[in-house]
Amino acid sequence: MKTFLKVWSVLTILCMTFVVFGGALVTKTGSADGCGNTWPLCNGQFVRLTDITPEKIIEVMHRLTTGISSIFVIVLAICAWIYIKDRRETKPLAIVAVAFLVLQAFMGAAAVMWGQNPYIMALHFGISIICYAAIVLLCLLIFEVDNKFDARNMVIGTKLKVNLYLLTIYTYIAVYTGALVRHEKASLAVPAWPFENGSFVMPTSVQDYVQYLHRLAALILVVWILYVTWIVFREYSHYRVLKYAMILEIIFVAAQAFTGIMSVVTNVNLYIALAHSLIITMMFALMTYLCLLASRSKQNRLKIK
Ligand code: HEM
Repeated sequence: MKTFLKVWSVLTILCMTFVVFGGALVTKTGSADGCGNTWPLCNGQFVRLTDITPEKIIEVMHRLTTGISSIFVIVLAICAWIYIKDRRETKPLAIVAVAFLVLQAFMGAAAVMWGQNPYIMALHFGISIICYAAIVLLCLLIFEVDNKFDARNMVIGTKLKVNLYLLTIYTYIAVYTGALVRHEKASLAVPAWPFENGSFVMPTSVQDYVQYLHRLAALILVVWILYVTWIVFREYSHYRVLKYAMILEIIFVAAQAFTGIMSVVTNVNLYIALAHSLIITMMFALMTYLCLLASRSKQNRLKIK
C-alpha cells in the first residue's frame, strides 16, 4: 500500500502542476471565454470538431485536467486519511486539499458564468496554491522525508518560528499583489524595470499603483528570505533540512524575481509568465513545509525533556 500511496501522491502533484499551469495559460492567453459563459459544458454542448479555436482547446483542456486531478486529490486524501493516520497533520491536510480544490473549482466556474472581477480572480490563484501546498505536504509525509533528514526531533526557537509563520503569510500577500497585476491588466503599466526611463515616475493610474505595489512586495520578500536564511545558518546550521530548504527558497525567489523582471522586459512573454506562476507555487509549498516542521517544535521539546 505504501508504494501505491507514494506513486499516487507523485502523480497527484504532477496533475495539480498541470492544473496550475493550465489555469495560468487560460488567463494569460485570454481563453477564459473560450467556452462562452457555460460550465461544465462548452457553449452548452460537448466540443464539436468543426468549431475549434485555440482558446476553446485551452479552456477545455483546463476543465479536463481539473476534473482528472480532482479524482487524484480525493483518492489521495482518503488513502492518506486511512493509511497514515498516525501523523497528526494528515487529517487537516487532507481536509484542506479537498476543501480548497472544491473552492477553486467553484470560483473558476463562477468566473466563467458570472464574469471576472479582478480582485476575486486574484484570489483564485491564491486558493490553488494552498491546495497545491497541502498535496505536496501530504506527499512529503507519505515519503517520510522528515525521517530521512534530521527533522523528526527538530526544535525551533520562537524567533525563527515566528519569522517562518509570518514570512509564509506575507508570501501569500505578495502572491495576491502579483495576481492582481495580472487581473487588473497592470502587467505593462510601468513597462521598464526598475523604473520607467531609468527614473521614478509617480504612479497616476490604479494599474501603476498595482504594479509598483507588486515590485515593493517582491523586494521585501527577497530581503526577508535572506534574513531568515541568515538566522538559519547562524543558529540552526546543525539541521540539514532547514539549511537545504532555505537555499532552495533563495534559488526560488531569485528565479521568481528574474522571471518577473523578464516578464516586463519581454512584454509578458507567455513562457516566462508561466514560469513566474509555477515557481511561486512550488516556493510557497516549501514554505508551508517549514511551517509544518516549526509547528512540531513544542512537542519535540517536551519529548526531549
Ligand atoms: C520575488 C517575488 C515575486 C512574487 C512572489 C511574484 C508573484 C507573482 C504572482 C503570483 C503573479 C500572478 C501570476 C498569475 O496570475 O498567473 C505575478 C505576476 C506578475 N509579476 Fe510577479 N512576483 C514577484 C516578483 C516580481 C518582480 C520583481 C517583477 C518585476 C517587475 C514582477 C512582475 C510581474 C508581472 C509583470 C506580472 C504579470 C504577468 C502576467 O501578466 O502574466 N514580479 N507575480
